[in-house]
Amino acid sequence: MAEDKNAIVSGKVQGSEDEQADFSLRPQTLTAYLGQKRVKQEMAVYIKAAKKRDEALDHVLLYGPPGLGKTTLAFVIANELGVNLKSTSGPAIEKAGDLVALLTDLDPGDILFIDEIHRLAKPIEEVLYSAMEDYYVDIVIGEGQTTHAVHVPLPPFTLVGATTLAGQLSAPLRGRFGIVEHLQYYTVAELEKIISRSSKVFNIEIEQKAAHELARRSRGTPRVANRLLRRVRDFAQVKGEKVISFATTADSLKQLQVDDEGLNQTDRKILRVIIENYHGGPVGIRTLAANAGEDVETIQSLYEPYLMQNGFLLMTPRGRMATEKAYIHLGLPLPDK
Ligand SMILES: Nc1ncnc2c1ncn2[C@@H]1O[C@H](COP(=O)(O)OP(=O)(O)OP(=O)(O)O)[C@@H](O)[C@H]1O
Ligand SMILES: [Mg+2]
Repeated sequence: MAEDKNAIVSGKVQGSEDEQADFSLRPQTLTAYLGQKRVKQEMAVYIKAAKKRDEALDHVLLYGPPGLGKTTLAFVIANELGVNLKSTSGPAIEKAGDLVALLTDLDPGDILFIDEIHRLAKPIEEVLYSAMEDYYVDIVIGEGQTTHAVHVPLPPFTLVGATTLAGQLSAPLRGRFGIVEHLQYYTVAELEKIISRSSKVFNIEIEQKAAHELARRSRGTPRVANRLLRRVRDFAQVKGEKVISFATTADSLKQLQVDDEGLNQTDRKILRVIIENYHGGPVGIRTLAANAGEDVETIQSLYEPYLMQNGFLLMTPRGRMATEKAYIHLGLPLPDK
């Protein structure tokens, strides 16, 4: 298969068709942003209040699994506030100077969006503390005998941080966000609406029953729903279908090895490793990652949350365990009690 196997589940591939689609399919307003009702209600209040006071919105931390709409929401917030958004990511900021350059370039009220904020280097994170709290940074310039500290005031701004692994954020950084929002997996009904909206953008028609099936198998994740829709569209076009049918949808999902519960090859591999190599667990994350041929962070942010939410995997103090439901789903004999 041409596509990366993680990509089918949710992770994005840089510069891919997926990234372009992420961009073109992004809703611009809170109203067009579907689902996440509680988050939207709260954000609407905070945005309104900040606008009324003519102040920068408090700093916002968005966390949750990949593809649930963190980046999308950051842009929606900027749009609703009527401010500019500058976007960067934790690993992209190599020197404190890079961060200072970004910060001093902001207009009052603007948003600095830092994706993967849990991957910021420590010294850079420390620069953020005073920036976030009191809108200034102290930087050291020059070398040797000529070094001196410079106090740089900043415009009042809003930091919007996004992370898939909130647990890896340091306490001092986390504590500086006044607004913390946890994005949840979407319901099937919400994903159906997202699929129907995307199909309009793609200018394709899809049977209601087919859209429902796609929604059901999308791991609660809009990015997955949009991706599966594009793949199914390919199958339908090759068949010469004008309206994507349920039969074609079911066939394509089978070809893509997305099973009835929306699990893909890697999900099943993770469960299989736990069951077949470790008698159902418990097994530590590093051992599991090595055996499944995935990296630890991908398992933690992408695979585990969905498997746990859906009752296939249990987290215990001694490690991960496969549930009875996992054995049954994979058609494996249950262990002796
Ligand atoms: N609430 C929503 N309504 C409609 N579409 C959405 C919504 N949330 C996300 N999407 C769609 O899902 C795609 C992925 O969303 P986005 O890139 O914002 O996810 P993310 O949480 O930032 O993921 P990552 O952690 O990988 O950066 C977007 O292109 C957008 O089309
Ligand atoms: Mg993102």
